Amino acid sequence: MPILPATDSPFSDDAWGDVLTAVDRTYAELVEYQERLERQNEELRAARRFIDSVLDSVSDVMVVVGRDGAVEEVSASFARALQSEPGALVGRAVTALFEGDGALRLGQALEALRLSRETARFEGEMMTPEGPQPVEIVLAARLSDGGRYAGAVLTGRPLGELRKAYAELEASHRQLKETQSQLVRNEKLASLGRLLAGVAHELNNPISFVYASVHALEKYVGQFETYFERVQAGAPRQELISLREELKLERNLRNLSQAITGARDGAERVRDIVADLRRLSADGTGERVPFDLVEVAQVAARWVERGSKSGIDVGYEGPDSLRVTGAPGHVQQIVMNLVQNGMDALRGTEAPQMTIRIAQRDGKAQLSVCDNGPGVPEALRASVFDPFFTTKPVGQGTGLGLAISSKIAEEHGGRLHLDPGPGGCFRLELPLEGAS
Ligand SMILES: Nc1ncnc2c1ncn2[C@@H]1O[C@H](COP(=O)(O)OP(=O)(O)O)[C@@H](O)[C@H]1O
Ligand SMILES: [Mg+2]
Repeated sequence: MPILPATDSPFSDDAWGDVLTAVDRTYAELVEYQERLERQNEELRAARRFIDSVLDSVSDVMVVVGRDGAVEEVSASFARALQSEPGALVGRAVTALFEGDGALRLGQALEALRLSRETARFEGEMMTPEGPQPVEIVLAARLSDGGRYAGAVLTGRPLGELRKAYAELEASHRQLKETQSQLVRNEKLASLGRLLAGVAHELNNPISFVYASVHALEKYVGQFETYFERVQAGAPRQELISLREELKLERNLRNLSQAITGARDGAERVRDIVADLRRLSADGTGERVPFDLVEVAQVAARWVERGSKSGIDVGYEGPDSLRVTGAPGHVQQIVMNLVQNGMDALRGTEAPQMTIRIAQRDGKAQLSVCDNGPGVPEALRASVFDPFFTTKPVGQGTGLGLAISSKIAEEHGGRLHLDPGPGGCFRLELPLEGAS
C-alpha cells in the first residue's frame, strides 16, 4: 500500500508537511514537559526528605494541624512521646492527643487563631501511655499562598526534663545553702568558744576568791562556836580569857570582816561579768540602737585578751566616748574578729603590739585595729574578705571572720577596709549617731 495518499486526496503535500511538523513539535513539547515533571518530582521528593529529616530530628514536639483541627504531620519526637507511629496519628483531632485542661486550651487557641492569627503560648499535657507529660506549647497560624488561614503549627517543649534539671539544681542549691549556714554556724561557734574561754578565765579569779573567803569563814565559825559553848556552860572568866587568846579570836574577828568583804567583792565581780555577758546576748537580736563604740570596742578587746593565752595587751587611742548607731552585739563581734585575727597574726612576732584607734572622720566613726605582725601579703589583699579564704591550718581558721564582718559592716551602712601596713591594719567605718 502506498504510504502517501493518492493525488485525489483533499490534502496537498504541503498540508501533510505542516501536520508532520506540528506532530513533531507536540512530541518534543511532551518530552520536555515530562522531563520538567520528573525534575520537579525529584525536587519535591528532596523537599519531602528534608522535611521528614527535620521532623525526625527535632527534639521538641511538632504537629502540623489542618483547618479542621486534624493532624496532618507530626515530628518523630511527638510520635515517640505518644509511643505511636506518625502515620497512625495523622487525621486524628489534635485536641484528642492532649489531656483535659491543655486540650481545652488548645481547642480555644485554635479557634482564636482562625480569627486573630496571633501566636498563643501555654502549658499542656500530652497524653502518653505513661501518663500525662507536661509541655510548653506554642501554637502559630499557617497561612496559604493567598494569605488565608490554612491551619496551625504546634510546637511543644517537653517540660519533664527541664523540671527534672530544675529540681536537681534546686536540690544542689539547697545543699549549698545548708553547707554555708553550717559553716557560718561553725564560725559563730568558734567566736562563742573564744568568748567562753575568756569568760571562764575571767570568772575563775573572783570565784576562787569567794571560795577562799568562805573557807576562812567556816574555820572562824568553828572557833567562835567552841568559845560560845564555853560561855554558855558558865566557864570562869579566866578560862574564857585564855581560850580567847588560844583561839586568836581578837585577830580572827578582824579577818572575819575581811573574808566577808572578800566574798562580797568576788561576788560583785562575778555579777559584773554576767552583766557584761547579758549586754552582749541582749544585742543578739541585731536591733539598731545608739551606743558607745568606745565601750563596745573595749569590752570586745577585753574578752579576746582574756580568752587568748598570748598575753598581748590591746592598746587604745581615741576619745573616751563616740556615739554611733547600730547593733552593738554585731559590732562587738566584728571587733572581736579583728582582734582575734591580730592575735593570730602576732604569733611569732617579737615585741607584739596591737592598738585599737577610734576617731571621727568624714562624718563617720572610724575604728581601726592594727598590729605589728607580718601584715597581709600584697598578693592576698584582694582575697582576705572572700568567704572561706584562710591561711590558717584546718581546724583553726574558717575564713569566714572577715567575710561576715564586712557583711555586717555593710548592713550598717558602713564598710570594712584593709588599710596599708606595716603590719595588719583593718578599719571599720560606721555611721555616727543621728546620721541618716
Ligand atoms: N591582722 C592580720 N594580719 C595578717 N593577716 C591577716 C590579718 N587578719 C586577717 N588576715 C588574713 O586574712 C585571712 C582571713 O581572715 P578571716 O576571714 O578572719 O578568717 P580566718 O581567721 O578564719 O582565717 C586570714 O587567714 C589571714 O590570712
Ligand atoms: Mg578570723
